Amino acid sequence: MNCHMDYRAPSDLLAGKVILVTGASAGIGRAVSLEYARHGATVVLVGRSVNRLKSVYDEIEAMGAPKPAIFPLNLESATVQDFASLAATIDEAFGKLDGLLHNASQLGERVNVADYDLETWASVMQVNVMAAVSLTQALLPLLQAAPNASTVFTSSSVGRRGRAGWGAYSTSKFATEGVMQILADEHRDSTLRFNSLNPGATRTDMRRAAYPDEDPAVLRTPAEIVPTYLWLMGPESLGVTGEAFDAQPPRH
Ligand SMILES: NC(=O)c1ccc[n+]([C@@H]2O[C@H](COP(=O)([O-])OP(=O)(O)OC[C@H]3O[C@@H](n4cnc5c(N)ncnc54)[C@H](OP(=O)(O)O)[C@@H]3O)[C@@H](O)[C@H]2O)c1
Repeated sequence: MNCHMDYRAPSDLLAGKVILVTGASAGIGRAVSLEYARHGATVVLVGRSVNRLKSVYDEIEAMGAPKPAIFPLNLESATVQDFASLAATIDEAFGKLDGLLHNASQLGERVNVADYDLETWASVMQVNVMAAVSLTQALLPLLQAAPNASTVFTSSSVGRRGRAGWGAYSTSKFATEGVMQILADEHRDSTLRFNSLNPGATRTDMRRAAYPDEDPAVLRTPAEIVPTYLWLMGPESLGVTGEAFDAQPPRH
């Protein structure tokens, strides 16, 4: 298994780096954004809820890390122009982007395909796949302007093996793995790297929605699974591209 849960990052691992995280307002994206900042990165926080983004911003500022940036965006309704405007803002402020973590996702319904509402299916695909493709397109020039940028797509165990009742979410994660592999192949001769990362069962709102009867205390917290997120943005992963990673060993 491709996992770096025991990785201990030096405190200056990401000094001077600019990293964009989608879904930075809650759950895993929030914890990873805080750790990227703690390790020296300037983090561009993208999410829907301005209040929740502001609370991440305040926490980063309070720890004395580089001043982050907030860019509120609903990935379900965002247009190509919205992504271009995000890219222009980053270009103006930093002139490059060293890291891109596609983390925001929608769970959709937990029902069999036969009963799945197709509008919900389409919006899950929009947020989880199309928005990530469109955002990557808009940000590619800035990633290319960085010395060796890393893009990480968030996957899931149901993006690697289909499972009953996971409909659009599972389909979107298979597509995510595909987009990651295609980009890695298209940029094999460059310094850009593209990989996928499955967080595994983690104590967040999404996990609670997917497994309402589960005791959250048995799950790892977002803060505990951060090491592989750091490893994939740091110099140890230079040259690694097109690979699927896990942030924690599978639970038995
Ligand atoms: N938790 C797990 O056990 C688990 C397991 C496997 C994979 N994953 C994956 O890990 C990633 C993070 O999951 P999580 O558990 O941390 O989820 P979460 O707690 O539900 O957080 C999801 C984040 O995505 C953002 N988001 C959702 N819809 C959005 C939209 N339309 N536009 C912009 N932002 C949007 C949310 O922003 P707002 O709050 O601002 O709306 C929030 O910051 C996801 O890709 C998920 O599929 C999680």
